[in-house]
Amino acid sequence: MSKPKVFVSRVIPDAGLDLVKEACDADIWPDRLPPSYEILVERVRGVDGILSVLTERIDANLMDAAGPQLKVISQMAVGYDNIEVAAAKARGIPVGNTPGVLTEATADLAFSLLLAGARRIVEGSNYIREGKWETWEPKTLLGADVTGATLGVIGFGRIGKAFAKRASGFDMHILAYSPSLTAEDAKNAGAIAVDMDTLLRESDFVSVHTPLNANTRHLINKERLAKMKPTALLINTARGGVVDQKALYEALKNGVIGGAALDVTDPEPLPLDDPLLTLPNVTILPHIGSATINTRNRMASMAAANLIAGVRGEALPNRVV
Ligand code: NAP
Ligand code: GLV
Repeated sequence: MSKPKVFVSRVIPDAGLDLVKEACDADIWPDRLPPSYEILVERVRGVDGILSVLTERIDANLMDAAGPQLKVISQMAVGYDNIEVAAAKARGIPVGNTPGVLTEATADLAFSLLLAGARRIVEGSNYIREGKWETWEPKTLLGADVTGATLGVIGFGRIGKAFAKRASGFDMHILAYSPSLTAEDAKNAGAIAVDMDTLLRESDFVSVHTPLNANTRHLINKERLAKMKPTALLINTARGGVVDQKALYEALKNGVIGGAALDVTDPEPLPLDDPLLTLPNVTILPHIGSATINTRNRMASMAAANLIAGVRGEALPNRVV
């Protein structure tokens, strides 16, 4: 019997790729850079399954180009804002993702960004490379205290809670906001449930952990930035689109907030001439929240499991819709 045909949009870790190759007739995009949308549309024609990463736009047009035999879309990420899930649902195509296995790695990275921003780690490192380190100085590169400070977590789900757990080790006072968060749920995770305005007003550090969707696009906008402390640091490891980046630039430039530490931007990659890159009070990483060897292996094998179940018409181990 012939194997199901699948398209894999990038060379994923062998932990997942080997499973896919064994179970499927796999067309694997070989390049470091993603296929263009036009090439993607061509390559998915006639496939039974698609294994995507977050750089690929998977929309209704692409699903129709693939054809009515398409049985599954499996995303190697927990976020799936690049996939038109309503279109998949309307066509009866299950969509899988990889929740949980990347929670700890992403929370670690978010906390690294908090520490880096608070203690000006990247600035300090650049200071040496730029030949500015001449002596120990009493008033140079002073940062903010982390221990005992107030942290606001917006989006108190898996990663938000794991992030709060790290903060509790630094004796931080933790405020949390999610639409369905109860006082008890927050308390069990060492936090206090508050409304968004209270969180923005009282926090020394604000960290965003929501998915990107129609409700969260530009959740952090000019008005909300204005509610934050002028010394506050914004951390974003969710998606670039959750923050209005033009408003963020203005807020940082004009001292409305103290700094930002970002793992995600809008767009990605951030163009080298983006004004954010001119500011000393911004730390930016190239979307590496889940980038540890073990985590990426787990994500790859989970995405493979979703793909293989889908092409076989079985229930996906992790299904979004
Ligand atoms: P999750 O467990 O589903 O948590 C998401 C949380 O966001 C939930 O608590 C949800 O609250 C809350 N939320 C939804 N809409 C909101 C709104 N309008 N305002 C405030 N909170 C809102 O997801 P997760 O596994 O923690 O992942 C979160 C996101 O992190 C992913 O979607 C992805 O975009 C991003 N991520 C990034 C990286 C990276 O490499 N930087 C890695 C992994 C994940 P309710 O339950 O009340 O709706
Ligand atoms: C990474 O950004 C993910 O959503 O898994």
